Amino acid sequence: MSSAAEATAKKDKLVIFDTTLRDGEQSPGASMTRDEKVRIAKMLEKMRVDVIEAGFAIASPGDFEGVQAVARAVKESTVCSLARAVGPDIIRAAEALKDAASPRIHTFIATSPIHMKYKLQLAPERVVEQAVEAIKHARNHVPDVEFSCEDASRSEFEFLCRIIEAAINAGARTINLPDTVGYGEPGEYGAMFKRLIENIPNSDKAIFSTHCHNDLGLAVANSLSAVMNGVRQVECTINGLGERAGNASLEEIVMAVRTRKDIFPVETGIVTEHIVPTSRLVASVTGFAVQPNKAVVGANAFAHEAGIHQDGVLKHRETYEIMRAQDVGWVNNRIVLGKHSGRAAVKARFEELGVTFDSPAALNAAFERFKELADKKKEVFDEDLQAIAGRVFAKDVEETFQFKSLEVLSKTGVVPKATVEMSIRDDDGEYVSRTASSEGSGPVDATFKAIENIVQSGADLQLYSVNAITQGTDSMGEVTVRLDKDGTIVNGVGADTDIVCASAKAYVHALNLLKSPEVRLRWQEYGV
Ligand code: KIV
Ligand code: ZN
Repeated sequence: MSSAAEATAKKDKLVIFDTTLRDGEQSPGASMTRDEKVRIAKMLEKMRVDVIEAGFAIASPGDFEGVQAVARAVKESTVCSLARAVGPDIIRAAEALKDAASPRIHTFIATSPIHMKYKLQLAPERVVEQAVEAIKHARNHVPDVEFSCEDASRSEFEFLCRIIEAAINAGARTINLPDTVGYGEPGEYGAMFKRLIENIPNSDKAIFSTHCHNDLGLAVANSLSAVMNGVRQVECTINGLGERAGNASLEEIVMAVRTRKDIFPVETGIVTEHIVPTSRLVASVTGFAVQPNKAVVGANAFAHEAGIHQDGVLKHRETYEIMRAQDVGWVNNRIVLGKHSGRAAVKARFEELGVTFDSPAALNAAFERFKELADKKKEVFDEDLQAIAGRVFAKDVEETFQFKSLEVLSKTGVVPKATVEMSIRDDDGEYVSRTASSEGSGPVDATFKAIENIVQSGADLQLYSVNAITQGTDSMGEVTVRLDKDGTIVNGVGADTDIVCASAKAYVHALNLLKSPEVRLRWQEYGV
């Protein structure tokens, strides 16, 4: 068949299962509040993700509320909760999903010899029985049940055949075989699916699914190899977020399948134009910046620096570009607004970027920040608007500490000194103004020390990173500050055209997160 004929041949549907809010959120420091989860879920729904895994309902009250809120907010996508193959987990997942239009319970148990022996301390027969019981139990609550064999890529073939056949007979509609530790290699992992699908007598009664971790940088390659070998659901995350080296990245899977229609026998229903705005939202909520050379969503993904490339692209785009930047949501006309733009135009642009403000107060706050920025900067870009939205939504964390002002002395040959003014809420809910100064090895160091002189949090600074949101020296800097206080890890983010100010805002945001009862409760439930 010619490549054009192959491209138009009837394709199978590839189900896109996004686990940014569950496996993605398990990266240390990436924890999200309930409202942040809902915002991301709404973007995923708009992008037409088929299944959104919203959390692990039994893990903590915060996780439960996150799943419940997403289940209530999302109508078009299936909403899923993870559950170990035990009764209390299934019941909690079912409760959290009660209001979902299309609920799914995703239950799992480890199947590799090493996990069964050391982690579960269960005989293989007992593992099969427990999986079957859990699937039947879950089917009593919802019709759509997924079963995962944790560490499948290191499990024995005969045992996988046995447990999967039993799981399908018990009512699982989707069978997920994760490469939990990122150990798989594309040829071997793909062959595992082919052999299982060919050998399990009832394999045609379920959709096979892949879930890959990126420890060896092979998560996307392994997932695509699985697709070539009969898999019709891919579990993935925005920006490849996830535990350790992350999960397979949604944008790379979707664009590989779309760009190489000539070889992949599947198509997704993803509205690819929403990929970049969603990537930005996830980066801004989690504080995990996207590296510039990241495929599809990195700032350089479509930038042709070399003269020879630029010349080729100008003469004929396809000489060097295999995808169109606008197809994944990079906008050509990136200068959108300036200081004369009105509220309606700003609101409309926010909406195009997938940002909706649920109260007039939030829109007002965003518009005020826009005006302040437009006064400092001639051109306000989409990235700036995303950062503004991030800061406005960050307000949903209670503000025990408010950053008020900053004065920095920075002069060659003189030790930098910062004076910070803050407001701190006392036990009666009143804000009291406090000011402190400190010297430091640089302006940011002096600023953080001055804040600590006021707050005395004793938190440990684990990460400090600055990203220019757009090009140019008048660009906003977005700063991420990761603090660790007795094992509770949070990421604070702040944006400003002055990066020392952005740093102070990020530090204060992190301090507020550490004070937030929602965040503290979540970490306590994880045993911290
Ligand atoms: O990586 C993994 O095995 C998982 C399962 C719980 C699906 O995340
Ligand atoms: Zn995983």
